[in-house]
Amino acid sequence: MPIIQVKNGPRFEAEFNQKLVLALEDHGVDMLHRCGGNARCTTCRVEILEGSPAPAKDEEKDILLRKGFDPNVFRLSCQIRIQGDLVVEPALTVETAGMDAGPRPKE
Ligand code: FES
Repeated sequence: MPIIQVKNGPRFEAEFNQKLVLALEDHGVDMLHRCGGNARCTTCRVEILEGSPAPAKDEEKDILLRKGFDPNVFRLSCQIRIQGDLVVEPALTVETAGMDAGPRPKE
């Protein structure tokens, strides 16, 4: 099973092919996902510090660019299916942003 390490956070075994945002949330990271996992809000963005998820699709790159985030640095955790080990750093959390998490993305 893939190992996910969160910078300054938990390390856990994740289900293969699970959405990263859900795996993080289910392992105690208070992720934001304000648009419900639809690649619109960017609040679920993470920095990939190690590991190589599948490349971002154009929709993901476009929204990141439109909101001023470099798609070479940030990825939307709602758009990543876990395929291997990753080390990640969430950009925002419920605690740091002081916002409601938003609706839980679909499996
Ligand atoms: S972009 Fe909104 S939850 Fe991922």
